[in-house]
Amino acid sequence: MARKIIIDTDPGQDDAVAILLALASPELEVLGLSVVAGNVGLDHTQRNARMICELAGRPDLPVHAGCDAPLQRKLITAEHVHGKTGLDGVTLPEPAMPLAPGHAVDFLIETLRREKPGSVTLVPIGPLTNIATAFRRAPDIVPRVREIVLMGGAYFEVGNITPAAEFNIHVDPEAAKIVFASGAALTVMPLDVTHRALTSRAWVETMRGMGRIGQAVAGWTDFFERYDREKYGSQGAPLHDPCTIAWLLDPELFSGRLINVEIETRGEYTQGMTVADWWGVSGRPANATFIREVKRDAFFALLTERIRALDQRAG
Ligand code: BDR
Ligand code: CA
Repeated sequence: MARKIIIDTDPGQDDAVAILLALASPELEVLGLSVVAGNVGLDHTQRNARMICELAGRPDLPVHAGCDAPLQRKLITAEHVHGKTGLDGVTLPEPAMPLAPGHAVDFLIETLRREKPGSVTLVPIGPLTNIATAFRRAPDIVPRVREIVLMGGAYFEVGNITPAAEFNIHVDPEAAKIVFASGAALTVMPLDVTHRALTSRAWVETMRGMGRIGQAVAGWTDFFERYDREKYGSQGAPLHDPCTIAWLLDPELFSGRLINVEIETRGEYTQGMTVADWWGVSGRPANATFIREVKRDAFFALLTERIRALDQRAG
């Protein structure tokens, strides 16, 4: 039976690839998308989410708009990385599918209460505002979550939005703190691993040689890559968010350690830092599997196979 997931997202080019990978994969049943503000404002992220569903041939998928600002702070966005719309690099038609009725937080709560306990996995790939709000409002849903597999944080590789912090956690550290302290089983894809999931020119050209879905992936990657090339001098774009879905499909592609991770909310220079106790020096209980390595070639082979299949299916 396919594993049920909800993707909580702020698309974002790499979010888009993650969503496509999930929709391409028969092992996963995507129950819906809960959308949050992050890379850009909610007006763009909810529209982008619908455009991605339509591109994938899934206008039936419920897309719920959620929180438009962090729990306690002003929203920080990343147009400098993702462009004005958050999904620059490809021109897609205005989405015809409407937003699903109801706030994303209600969707999360109602779905977790309705589905069998322990059957729904949450995949947050943006700031954790929707998830934390749902947990705070309905603590009874926390033990019903099968697992949370999120993109966020950084430790050895340190930050991308500040020297100490990764974007998703930095934007809403109070929300991250709630999720990391929730007691739910947590797998974390930090920059330490996602900066190893770098696209190559050959892979992007393979995508471009496919149908319109592969071509969209190539266009987004081209756009996204220019930022990383200028900033890090790296060859290729890090496919941060698809690491979460790839882990669900094949955890053997990754390795990490079950450790204690705390979220810094008060530091003068370290807001949103994920303090990862890799060596177990704090004595604090483990709360997250912190991933550090990915088998890069196998990761991209999986992506290629799935995007090709989706492209063929969508015709
Ligand atoms: C994370 O922030 C966003 O820019 C990406 O979509 C990803 O979720 C990487 O720091
Ligand atoms: Ca994202």
